[in-house]
Amino acid sequence: MAAKTHKRQNSRATARPSVAQPRKSSRELIFGDLWEFDPAPETADPKLKPRYDLFINGEFTAPKSGKYFPTINPATEQKIADIALASPADVDTAYQAAQRAFDSVWGKMPGRERGKYIYRIARLLQDHAREFAIAETMNGGKPIKESRDFDVPMAAAHFFYHAGWADKLEYVAPGRSVKPLGVVGQVIPWNFPLLMMAWKIAPALAMGNCVVIKPAETTSITALKFGEILQEAGLPPGVVNIVSGAGETGAAVMNHPLAAKVAFTGSTEVGKIIMRSLAGTDKKMTMELGGKAANIVFDDAPLDQAVEGIVNGIFFNQGHVCCAGSRLLVQEGVAEAVLAKLKNRIKVLRVGDPLDKNTDVGAINSKEQLGKIRELVDSGVKEGAELYQSPCRLPAKGFFFKPSVFSNVTMSHRIAREEIFGPVLSVLTFRTVDEAIEKANNTPYGLSAGVWTDKGSRILKMSVELKAGVVWANTYNKFDPTSPFGGYKESGFGREGGRQGLLDYGKLI
Ligand code: NAI
Ligand code: MG
Repeated sequence: MAAKTHKRQNSRATARPSVAQPRKSSRELIFGDLWEFDPAPETADPKLKPRYDLFINGEFTAPKSGKYFPTINPATEQKIADIALASPADVDTAYQAAQRAFDSVWGKMPGRERGKYIYRIARLLQDHAREFAIAETMNGGKPIKESRDFDVPMAAAHFFYHAGWADKLEYVAPGRSVKPLGVVGQVIPWNFPLLMMAWKIAPALAMGNCVVIKPAETTSITALKFGEILQEAGLPPGVVNIVSGAGETGAAVMNHPLAAKVAFTGSTEVGKIIMRSLAGTDKKMTMELGGKAANIVFDDAPLDQAVEGIVNGIFFNQGHVCCAGSRLLVQEGVAEAVLAKLKNRIKVLRVGDPLDKNTDVGAINSKEQLGKIRELVDSGVKEGAELYQSPCRLPAKGFFFKPSVFSNVTMSHRIAREEIFGPVLSVLTFRTVDEAIEKANNTPYGLSAGVWTDKGSRILKMSVELKAGVVWANTYNKFDPTSPFGGYKESGFGREGGRQGLLDYGKLI
């Protein structure tokens, strides 16, 4: 038999230069350096429209003012679509529709019937998963592998989980019965646009409430696309209303007299404004605000695993995560080793086109957020901390920031105290367990923390002593719809997820 020789023309295993970048010399391609892959962009059609209207009473409706605002792709700075700007008058129409739906249909419907709608929404999200993942990545800047493997499946999982509760509400609070509140107003941020929407809408619907929700102004597309899912699911008109816009629209949603409860996720600053404006009203309120989590590594921890967890904790979603492990507390004896491993790992993170399936770190969500990150990083350098940044090359267009690690950080530095909300880690050291606890708790926030150690008893002690709503042990940034999530202190109050989160949408009688 004649032997044939095959030449692989396009092997991924071969280091090839990507289009925009010059080929590296063989000396540069040393072990541990970044091998260059061919571009692997996601190419499916996300079925975007040039213009998105408000979703009110089951219909896409033009804003009364006729005003629209552009939304861009933060990785290219190109406009994607025009988004309707809801005025307080539009918000009022949405509340009237929601109240009518609550009084005439949704509030009266048996739980087992409501559950069918919620289940259908979950299934439809799965059916349209690819479109949603691409739209989320294009509008928000997060890597496609995250929107595809985390955001969209988790959003569907929240609807599945709560569909299961709808007909079992008599068991949610043993010995008590629970009733819906009425219409709830919700405002969400831009870091997990679709997922935050699912966290807010799914429990509200399961409990029998109707909803007026506002997405963040930089990431409205998947929220309004979700209106198409609600239409396809045949959800009765007015049960969910989606009003897009910025702070003024948000304030109208939070302050409307028909809102029996408001739920907010965003900055502590805006959370405080909302709390002040609602003081003295009888509205129920839940707040999920900022964080400055400590990831605490003891000297008996499996260091390679810990380094993966640290990287996931702060570079996941460009650090646009309220529970990001933005402070690393490492025990002195292993500090040098951990820092060296960390730098090696950061070197090979792929930063760039969020639609590329190989990208680890995508685009910063907006120019404003990039400015905030730069300002805080500059302050870290000025205050004397030592900065290490990934040697990666950033794309010429779009909002990107190099994965960064500060060492020699002290508790008085701004980078150790303020929420950066970007891919920037501050490393501090400690000697004893008590010192770790004291440093970790020395923050106005208290959303989450991570503990890395071989000792179960130490994990238990830390999880009691750390003033944080979530404490992960030997892992980080893990989520599940059954598990309640929420903060202590200035990170907010109320829980989302699990039985506790559901109960925050009802009244016990
Ligand atoms: P933000 O708190 O201003 O925005 C969050 C949401 O609130 C958006 O939908 C926005 O339109 C709305 N909003 C703004 N002003 C409002 C008002 N007066 N009344 C009602 N709603 C209002 O957050 P921003 O300015 O986008 O980000 C600033 C910082 O906040 C970030 O750098 C980060 O540190 C933190 N943040 C924390 C989040 C979290 O998940 N905890 C999410 C987003 C931001
Ligand atoms: Mg703001």
